[in-house]
Amino acid sequence: SKPLPFPPNKAPKLTYTNPNTGAAIDYYEVEIKEFEQQVYPGLKPARLVGYDGVSPGPTFRVERGRETVVRFINKAVMASAVHLHGSYSRAPFDGWAEDLIKPGQYKDYYYPNAQTARTLWYHDHAIHHTAENAYFGQAGFYLLHDGAEDSFGLPSGQYDIPLALSAKVYNADGTLFDPKDETTSIYGDVFHVNGEPWPFHKVEPRKYRLRFLNAAVSRTFRLWFEASGALGTKIPFKLIAGDAGLMTKPVSSTTLDIAMAERWEMIVDFAPFAGKNVTLRNNRDVFADEDYAGTDRVMQFIVGNTVSSTANNGEPPASFKALDFPPNKATVDKHFKFERGNSEWQINGVTFADVNNRILAKPKRGAVEVWELENSSGGWSHPIHIHLVDFQIIKRTGGDRGVQPYEREALKDVVLLGTGETATVIARYAPWDGIYMFHCHNLIHEDHDMMAAINVTALEN
Ligand code: C2O
Ligand code: CU
Repeated sequence: SKPLPFPPNKAPKLTYTNPNTGAAIDYYEVEIKEFEQQVYPGLKPARLVGYDGVSPGPTFRVERGRETVVRFINKAVMASAVHLHGSYSRAPFDGWAEDLIKPGQYKDYYYPNAQTARTLWYHDHAIHHTAENAYFGQAGFYLLHDGAEDSFGLPSGQYDIPLALSAKVYNADGTLFDPKDETTSIYGDVFHVNGEPWPFHKVEPRKYRLRFLNAAVSRTFRLWFEASGALGTKIPFKLIAGDAGLMTKPVSSTTLDIAMAERWEMIVDFAPFAGKNVTLRNNRDVFADEDYAGTDRVMQFIVGNTVSSTANNGEPPASFKALDFPPNKATVDKHFKFERGNSEWQINGVTFADVNNRILAKPKRGAVEVWELENSSGGWSHPIHIHLVDFQIIKRTGGDRGVQPYEREALKDVVLLGTGETATVIARYAPWDGIYMFHCHNLIHEDHDMMAAINVTALEN
């Protein structure tokens, strides 16, 4: 295997002044273009399409309160739409699936970056082609920082590592299998981290912050770590952040379920494993996902014997912040069934193709609503993503796992409905009005129209 690669950091092209507010706006340009990756020596290279011709795309590192405009220029042959997942973007900049950047066109997206620090990611959202576009490379990290998070002294710099997981299938000639004709799922037998199959990374025997993103099309990972010399023993770690940034407090765990589009961040201490190898493992038989020879492992950390910096190597604080959220309310405002009917993936019997009926909710701006999300599709699992909002998972029933202890302390924008599960989530539909999508983040299901819309309506005068 090869070393873990890191996508380049993205630099602004210029900075200008917002004529309305006087604030500085950083302006970036990203080209969507083809590139090749030689995965199997001696065979053909795989053809990919990525942001700036790399995958994952370049990493944005943005300070809270600093606005950005990103021009995405489509130099590829397929239409694109770009969604900054985790951002409360205004509707015209949210990557609506039908708002396409055709080949030869560009679109400027404006991002307010006023939310708290968090790990966001930007990825394709083109109608009926999201799975192909994301699988062939259109996904990248967008890290939002703020002073409150910086004050906690968490591992930073080379000790703060973004890890994008994906799962692919290759043809016998070394090219990448094209998932365009799939209608159910593509689980993938070759795991990539930051674009490299089963890589290794040399670490020092100290604490690291690992920012996991599941960028796979259809696969949920159940992760754990084991050290050489103690195979089968699960190494404890501390989860510190979910989709919407820092949790209320660190939560210790030895396994992590991470579904498509979820972000989970943890502190792992490699100090006890100096001179050993620590393997990141994946459980087999997670819901209905298919397994292959190599799907029980993800990557390896090779732990050295010396620590070059002990800065930010302490225990994380016992608590980070209060969950900024309204108290639970007894009523359920909406009930959505994610189901398979008429050989289609549907939400309450509707698909995104049903343009006259696909707005399934009209919360008033600022309203707090409780939604019950029911997986009634038989053997499938569905990670459900609601655009615009951060939500809290109140309840999960019907399967063999409830709300995980770490999920209780986090705000989220994706909730996994495992086989037979129903989850209840509470969110405030704010700060903007407008029409936003919600959907299954198994990208094959999404492309086959398991997607609907929310119309957040303006307050009346
Ligand atoms: Cu990450 Cu609507 O998507
Ligand atoms: Cu689904």
